[in-house]
Amino acid sequence: MHKKKAFGVAFLIIGMLLCIAVAGPGCEGGGKKGAGVPGRSVAKPEQVQAQRVSLVSDLVEGRKIFEAKNCSQCHSIFERERKAGPKLKTSRFYGSFLDIFSLLWNHAPAMAVHMRKEVLERPQFSATELNHLVSFLYMLPYLGQPGDPRRGEALLNEKACFSCHSLGGRGKKDGISLDSLAVFQSQVVLLQRMWNHGPMMLSRMAATRTRIPTFSGNDFMDLFAALTEQGKERRKVFLGVGNAANGQKMFTEKGCIRCHPIFGKGGKEAPDLGKAVSQSNVTVLSTRLWNHVAGMREKFQQKKLEWPNFSETEMNDLIVFLYSLNYEDKPGVPGKGESVFTRKKCADCHFKTAADKQKIVGEIKSVNSLQFATLLWNHIPSMEASMVIHAVPWPEMSGQELRDVLAYLQSQ
Ligand code: HEC
Ligand code: HEC
Ligand code: HEC
Ligand code: HEC
Repeated sequence: MHKKKAFGVAFLIIGMLLCIAVAGPGCEGGGKKGAGVPGRSVAKPEQVQAQRVSLVSDLVEGRKIFEAKNCSQCHSIFERERKAGPKLKTSRFYGSFLDIFSLLWNHAPAMAVHMRKEVLERPQFSATELNHLVSFLYMLPYLGQPGDPRRGEALLNEKACFSCHSLGGRGKKDGISLDSLAVFQSQVVLLQRMWNHGPMMLSRMAATRTRIPTFSGNDFMDLFAALTEQGKERRKVFLGVGNAANGQKMFTEKGCIRCHPIFGKGGKEAPDLGKAVSQSNVTVLSTRLWNHVAGMREKFQQKKLEWPNFSETEMNDLIVFLYSLNYEDKPGVPGKGESVFTRKKCADCHFKTAADKQKIVGEIKSVNSLQFATLLWNHIPSMEASMVIHAVPWPEMSGQELRDVLAYLQSQ
């Protein structure tokens, strides 16, 4: 098999942006509204095997749901067109699963009014669909901003890369050529190569008294842009967004977990990556990882650990895994949830009789935040009907309030 095949069918970063913009031709399976997305009947959340809520990093699936559920009627992402709702920004972090879900929840009534006017069906979600949709919104900032090849070239000079390397005939005459990197349409490949050759580069730098280059801002993306533009290579290998589940495996297999904890679990000798990498994107993560390579290298040597090599999509998967760490919700506070449940008048309907209470508590007992959100959402029509009768205003809730209510119901 051709070696490069291992990268699979994926997308150019720019192409990737286009894919999430329109799910248009060339984006696998995209295009037609509602294509392949069921969702007419009222969906009960299917059994989600694991209790954990995992980010789906596949942007294309999410974009399809975004269109199929008519979100695109009111929201543009890349298009200039002004619509009824705000443009969703690719630079904005909306938070964890329930933080994002709360945005949907809070404007459900406005959505419904519009849907009625346009004679559209009010969206119902299966747990899988809701996870895809919320993941899509979570992933929007991931790809970062495109790079500037001019700046990238200047950086190759400034950062002394050209004192050892050449690119498209520039730089050091007999330097180590970086031309072959032009094939790969992902900055993560640049990171992976730099990481794999890290120990060698570091010792060469030490030998030649070159300062170890570090990056900031969009430097990494700019460098990558210079490589793809300047290189003589015409072939292209597209690398999509990685797979977070596989990245989690990498985190263990490559030994990261021996030094780094994630939210308190794991080694104790390096920063907690659950906390350290929140609100980042692929560029920030690549930058952070590289900037610490020298520090990490020392620790590796002290502990006599072998420097881990990454091949194929491994680094790509690892990076999106790091990005995914803040997707899952932390447990809420039952005590606070109780007061939300009373204040928002949930208790008026749900705890009116012992049987009512038993019903909702039983139903919520063993669900995760995704199943909770799916139940909540799909019951809007019946909830709303009795809200109108009881003249209860729409109970807006923040992500934190949702977490607290869930914790409260589960503590009953
Ligand atoms: C009737 C048009 C309409 C539809 C349909 C609609 N939205 Fe909205 N959306 C809005 C409006 C208006 C706001 C601004 C907040 C508000 O008024 O509640 C908003 C706010 C948001 C926000 C917060 C944006 C921000 O920057 O604060 C998100 C995220 C969002 N919507 C996602 C969705 C998704 C996902 C769907 C599809 C399930 C959807 N919306 C369907 C009109 C709509
Ligand atoms: C002091 C010399 C030196 C400097 C400065 C230097 N490198 Fe390197 N670089 C090396 C060496 C040595 C290798 C390993 C080559 C090998 O293994 O064949 C390497 C390998 C690489 C590779 C892997 C190439 C491949 O084909 O997989 C990349 C990418 C790279 N360097 C990028 C950079 C960038 C970007 C800079 C500037 C920020 C830089 N290097 C600065 C010496 C240097
Ligand atoms: C031998 C211990 C050790 C191992 C193994 C290790 N690291 Fe580190 N890592 C460190 C130390 C120490 C630092 C802080 C270095 C510094 O401050 O310069 C660090 C820093 C980082 C940072 C920057 C954090 C920040 O706050 O910006 C990232 C990201 C990172 N490591 C990722 C990884 C990944 C991914 C792996 C697995 C491939 C890994 N590390 C393996 C010791 C380790
Ligand atoms: C006006 C009455 C009313 C209010 C207020 C109300 N609900 Fe409901 N809720 C309902 C009805 C009716 C159902 C549908 C029950 C069914 O279909 O069996 C429901 C269903 C649910 C479900 C799905 C689980 C189940 O038992 O079917 C959840 C979760 C839920 N509500 C939570 C809340 C929360 C949290 C609040 C406060 C923010 C709230 N409800 C406020 C009437 C209400």
